[in-house]
Amino acid sequence: MFAANTLTGSKPEQYAQLLAQARALLHGEPDRIANAANLSALVYHALPELNWVGFYFFDGRELVVGPFQGLPACVRIPLDKGVCGAAASTRRTQRIDDVQAFPGHIACDAASQSEVVVPLVRDGADGPDLIGVFDIDSPRTHRFDDEDQRGLEAIAQAYMESMT
Ligand code: SME
Repeated sequence: MFAANTLTGSKPEQYAQLLAQARALLHGEPDRIANAANLSALVYHALPELNWVGFYFFDGRELVVGPFQGLPACVRIPLDKGVCGAAASTRRTQRIDDVQAFPGHIACDAASQSEVVVPLVRDGADGPDLIGVFDIDSPRTHRFDDEDQRGLEAIAQAYMESMT
């Protein structure tokens, strides 16, 4: 059985521990749904001040909600909408200190005040292939700093490496 240890030390140290726990959960398992479900649960319970953690997958047209922790969410997000759409279409992490100030923000959970959305991209035969996004929301504005962004990007990277 997986035992999550409480994170200790500086923030980078805590993210290193969380990444190690993530890698342990992903080890030997290529199923993208199983891994997305477990990573959502791991991150949601390990980090403070979060209200939604989960995945959206690109279906070739728009983003469709995948495994997550938190309140029920919008099922489909067009690539030109919201923070998730911006991360997917630019292929760049979006770190938003105050979602109310983000044009086109989609309020799935009215509690969300700040968020990080990491694009999930892998090399395909015809260039980068959009898999989806990893979305982490907080009920507090300015919840995420550079270290959070790097730590969450490392977890997203581990997720991508787990896919065959
Ligand atoms: N806030 C996101 C929508 C997804 S949820 O918050 C779960 C956005 O604007 O893309």
